[in-house]
Amino acid sequence: MISDSSLTQAFAAAFSGNPALIARAPGRINLIGEHTDYNGGFVFPAAIAYEIKMAARAATGSVTRLHSVNYNENFEYDTAEGLPEPGETHWYSYWLGVCLQFEEKGFTIPALEVAIHGDVPLGAGLSSSAAFEVCAATLLNYVLNAGIDAKDLALMAQAAEHSKYVGVMCGIMDQFASALGEQAHALLLDCHSTDYERVPCDPTGASIVIINSNKHRELRSSEFNTRRRECEEGLRLLNGLSGADYPTLRHVPQDVFDAHAGALPEKVRQRVKHNLAENARVMRFVDALKANDWTTAGTELYASHASLRDDYEVSCSELDAIVDIARESGLAHGCRMTGGGFGGCAVALVPPHQVDAFIANMQSQYPQRTGLQPTIYQSEPVQGANVYSAG
Ligand code: GLA
Repeated sequence: MISDSSLTQAFAAAFSGNPALIARAPGRINLIGEHTDYNGGFVFPAAIAYEIKMAARAATGSVTRLHSVNYNENFEYDTAEGLPEPGETHWYSYWLGVCLQFEEKGFTIPALEVAIHGDVPLGAGLSSSAAFEVCAATLLNYVLNAGIDAKDLALMAQAAEHSKYVGVMCGIMDQFASALGEQAHALLLDCHSTDYERVPCDPTGASIVIINSNKHRELRSSEFNTRRRECEEGLRLLNGLSGADYPTLRHVPQDVFDAHAGALPEKVRQRVKHNLAENARVMRFVDALKANDWTTAGTELYASHASLRDDYEVSCSELDAIVDIARESGLAHGCRMTGGGFGGCAVALVPPHQVDAFIANMQSQYPQRTGLQPTIYQSEPVQGANVYSAG
């Protein structure tokens, strides 16, 4: 949590005086449903108590000034000259990407002074960039009195990430969780229709423990885009082979895949196999959660990890070590890598009375197996983005 008073002080140091508004947007943890969102599938994330906050006020004159507390950097541009052209991706690129979405809807954004501070770990697969985008979108929606609902703000935040300022072709999960999360609930999202259901997460049955592998995510965006292409290829081939016209991979029935799997290139077959199985796992996991059946829920987590490791090939030895340690300890219901993969975090569901033992065991075992220190976070699901008076 970033306190309003520390952010207000940072604002005063950067611009002098006080902000008028504060917007906040959380990061997310995905409980299950990985690499399914951009294939029209199901995901089950929750917003977490690590967030981005922006304190803002109207500027006098036409220059917008941004101050990043995390980077101790400023960025400014003259709104009279329009949005600056994109360069390399920096923290402020996400701001510009969001501004572009509002401008494309016909809004004129006034000059602002904005101080920005976040505690979502960067590059850890907990969606610091989605939190930034959703925070900026929530702030601008208020400033412009635009009346855009949270779902459309999430879609605009995703479009910001796809825009020329960032250029990552992410799915919709992260921005949705940040915009629409609810305290003590996870979000079952159908990424094709964007219909969603908020499902209670009973904290007496399991605590959410997040283990950061602290493995730097190499190859992440190039491999991410490759997986997307392989899935698109799988859909195209399966539609051709079956003579059907399924709109997304999630619509392909299992028996149609089974009938034609042999005709698919090996990697494409594996990616499709993961997607169909993962969608089914999400549904079983949610049913198990509703029934307080933690054993089944945990089994689905381990199965999801194995599929991401073997069929989707987005895990790494460090994430595999975390999951192995969790399983061998017998102290967790289940554990899996979470987010895009190639490093970043794993999520474990742990019986509350075993959390301390689970963490102590992870802290001693993981360095022995990998030579890296883990960072461990705990969070129950929190409320999605909002904006309020800084008064
Ligand atoms: C990243 C993307 C999401 C999703 C996950 C994998 O976090 O931003 O849209 O595709 O990877 O599930």
